[in-house]
Amino acid sequence: MMTIWTPTLSGRGPLYRQLLDAIRHAIQQGELPAGSKLPTHRALADRIGVTVGTVTRAYHEAEQSGLITARVGSGSYVRDGKASPTEAWHMRHATPGRIELWQNLPVALDRSAAFQQAMQTIAQEPDCINGLMEYDSAEGNASQRACFSAWLQQHGIDATPERLYFNYGAQNGLLLAVMLLGLSGQPLLCEGLTYPGLNTLAQTLKLQLRGLPMDEEGILPDALERACQDGLYRAIYLIPTLQNPTTAVMSRQRREAILAICARHQLWVIEDDVHGLLPTERPPALVNLAPERVIYLGSFSKGTSAGLRIGYMLVPAELHAATGQAIRATSWMVSPLLIELACRWMRGGDADALLQQQRLQLAQRAERLQHHLGAFALRYAAGSMHAWLELPAQWRAASFIAAAEAEGIGLASAELFAAGHFSTPQAVRLSISHPPDMASLEQALTTLARLLESSGPHTTLL
Ligand SMILES: Cc1ncc(COP(=O)(O)O)c(C=O)c1O
Repeated sequence: MMTIWTPTLSGRGPLYRQLLDAIRHAIQQGELPAGSKLPTHRALADRIGVTVGTVTRAYHEAEQSGLITARVGSGSYVRDGKASPTEAWHMRHATPGRIELWQNLPVALDRSAAFQQAMQTIAQEPDCINGLMEYDSAEGNASQRACFSAWLQQHGIDATPERLYFNYGAQNGLLLAVMLLGLSGQPLLCEGLTYPGLNTLAQTLKLQLRGLPMDEEGILPDALERACQDGLYRAIYLIPTLQNPTTAVMSRQRREAILAICARHQLWVIEDDVHGLLPTERPPALVNLAPERVIYLGSFSKGTSAGLRIGYMLVPAELHAATGQAIRATSWMVSPLLIELACRWMRGGDADALLQQQRLQLAQRAERLQHHLGAFALRYAAGSMHAWLELPAQWRAASFIAAAEAEGIGLASAELFAAGHFSTPQAVRLSISHPPDMASLEQALTTLARLLESSGPHTTLL
């Protein structure tokens, strides 16, 4: 008698979802190789004691996710090693039975055709490829700088080739900014809740972070003014558009007020605009308003490709010598080949097409977010990969995270984002772009809504 594939279910979450995870896991482990036939709905349902409807739903979701393919009249088969890019990524990183919402990963897109096209055209130009294989200056190639600044201008950023420098992503840009401003071991102002990569850098370079209080538009001008009275600070790091983690977007008026204070106290501003191209409309970048004061950091990571590790910065003229030195001190230059690939994507329209796809995916996910959690104290701004959820009175962040964890859902606590000892609200960040597909996102959001509506954790009195 032929043995049929018999999955082990995790026992957590809806049955169809457990079966979907088991299929993904079996493919990942090679237990279900490409091309293998899955049992019929009826045979599998009988075998594991679930309804035929459960198997049908799991197979449907597996098909939607690109894991399997259904052939009319023949059955369902594991796809020939061609899982969708999102699936492929999650098959490598996901833990069966869990849904992660804790990391701001962009939705994985299929970049293979764009990559192939760009590399083929580069490979057909021997002079170009030979040039890309040499050392270049820290500033990079003039035509590449012109290409990036033209593209940024199309996206509303007042870039000029002379002020543009390349780097290996915004995190690397942040390191360069700290180095070129000579901030190692020095105090640095920032938002009270901030990007955890700043905390990592602060620990490494002994930066003393001072987090400032915020409202829904970001840091409060009065608080900045008070902090400046100390005369201790030379710079401030800000994420004015789609702030990480709170999603705050500074209005133009707030931007002008903050920049006026910075000018009065001669503070350099490091503007992290890593999410800035995701919304279709946004207030002007700080660098547009004060190019002589702002070091602007942008990146290909969120809208185009994180793996390419290409970022860019706009630097005031006064800091150009220090910027060249910081680049030479860290990597001598930024890989001209990677920059060229990015330039081809910009000129050929792929960079915009990928950005557009990312925006679309995020908009679809945001709609589900509002549907499930819109009735709670949720903050979300168009284009964002993440949302900020202030918890109802019965929940503290730690117990809510533990309750979600028990349901197999990973969230990021406000604690993770605190600058220094800044006191944190009872809130969590949800990254809607992290789950592999809509079905996982829906399931996680439904569970979170149920937890939020519940009476809270069970407490034991001693
Ligand atoms: C505010 C902020 N800055 C920088 C980064 C890192 O960007 P990159 O991948 O370009 O280094 C992130 C990534 O999540 C971020 O949220």
